[in-house]
Amino acid sequence: MFDVEQIRKEFPLLSREVYGRRLVYLDSGATAQKPEVVIRAVDRLHRELNANIHRGVHYLSEQATEAYEAAREEVARFIGAGSKEEIIFTAGATASINLVAYAWSERFLQAGDNILISELEHHSNIVPWQLAAERKGAEIRVLPFDDAGNLMVEKLPELLDERTKLVAVTEASNTLGTRPDLRPIIAAAHRVGAVVMVDGCQGVVHGGGHVEELDCDFYAFSGHKLYGPTGIGVLYGKRALLDAMPPFMGGGDMVDRVSFEKTTYAPVPLKFEAGTANYIGAIALKEAIGFLQEVGIEAVEAHEHHLLQMATEELNRIPGLRIYGTTANKCAILSFNVEGVHGYDMGMILDKLGIAIRTGQHCAEPVMQHFGVQGMCRASLAMYNTEEEIEALVKGVGRAVRMLRG
Ligand code: ALA
Repeated sequence: MFDVEQIRKEFPLLSREVYGRRLVYLDSGATAQKPEVVIRAVDRLHRELNANIHRGVHYLSEQATEAYEAAREEVARFIGAGSKEEIIFTAGATASINLVAYAWSERFLQAGDNILISELEHHSNIVPWQLAAERKGAEIRVLPFDDAGNLMVEKLPELLDERTKLVAVTEASNTLGTRPDLRPIIAAAHRVGAVVMVDGCQGVVHGGGHVEELDCDFYAFSGHKLYGPTGIGVLYGKRALLDAMPPFMGGGDMVDRVSFEKTTYAPVPLKFEAGTANYIGAIALKEAIGFLQEVGIEAVEAHEHHLLQMATEELNRIPGLRIYGTTANKCAILSFNVEGVHGYDMGMILDKLGIAIRTGQHCAEPVMQHFGVQGMCRASLAMYNTEEEIEALVKGVGRAVRMLRG
C-alpha cells in the first residue's frame, strides 16, 4: 500500500520550515530530497568503510571495492543493462554525456557528418554535441517538437541520412515533462547507422531505463535526482562502442601498464573511471535505488500521475494561466506562465509562502525560444508530494496573480 505520510517520514528535510511555514518542496526535477537510508549510508560509509577502491590489498579497501562493484551491478540490473561492464560511474549526467561527446566523437565523428538533437533537450544534451561538432567539422540538426510538446517523428526521414552519426534525445523533458516514444526514433537512427544517446535524468526517476529493451546505445543519469547523493552519475554504453572509444580522462585506475614510451589502458568500465571514484556516492546510490524499488516504481508513478492531473486541472482554472507541455504521456513536471505576471515574481511570492518551485529557463533555452518566452515557472513532483501541497500551490499561484495583477 502506498502511504505518502509514511514515505514523508523517511525524508527528514521535508519536516523543516521556511519563513515559519511548512516547506512545500516542488523542485524535485532539479534535485530530489534524500531518504534516511541514503543519509545514513553516506554517514556510515565515512565512519566505517572509507578506503580507496581498487588500490589496496587491505581489508577496508577490499570491502569498499566490493561494495562499489556491487553498486555497479545493482545499477546495471536497475536500468536493464546486459552486463556491469557497461556501467560507468561519473560525476553526473553532464559528465556522462560529455564523456561520450568527447570519446565517441574522437573515434566515430568526421567532418561532413551530422548529429541530430531533439528540440526538447536540456543544455547538457546539446552543448557537448555542439563542442564535438565544432571540433570535428560536423553539422548539428534539430528534431522539432509541436506545441503540445511531442517530438515530430514524422520529420525523421528528412533529417536522418547516411552521414547522421548520432541522435541525442531525452527520455523525459525536464521542462515539458514529455516522454517521447523512443523506440521509433532509435529504430530510425539505427536504420541509417547512427547511434543514440538518451538523457535519462528525468526519465529514470519516472519508471524509465530498460536500456537493452529500448536498444539505445548510450544512456545517462544523475544520482541526485533519483533520491541519491550529488556528485554521482551513471553512463551506460553498449560494450562494443565503449571498447572502441579512446579514454576521456587519463590518470590512476584507468590504466593497464604505464611507461614513458607507451601506456596501455584498463578494460571498460575502468578505462573511463580515471582518478579516485566517488565510491561513497555510488554505494549510497544503490541504497536510493533499493528504497525506490521498495516503495514501488509503479505505485510512485500512479501517485505522481494523480497529483499531476490534479494540479493540471486546478491550475487550468486560473484565468490567463498557460501550461506548457500538454501531451498525454507526461511525467510529473508542470511548467506554466500567467499572462501579465513575470515568472520570477511568481517564484518569489510562492517562496515566501514556503513553496519551492523553479523559475527561469530550466537549462533548456531552445524550449523557451519555441514558445517565445523568457522563462517558465516549473513545479516538479516526487513520491513524497501530497494533495495538500498541490492545493497549496494552486492557492499560492492564485494569490500571487491577485497581488501582481492588482
Ligand atoms: N536539470 C535540472 C533541472 O531541470 C537541474 O532543474
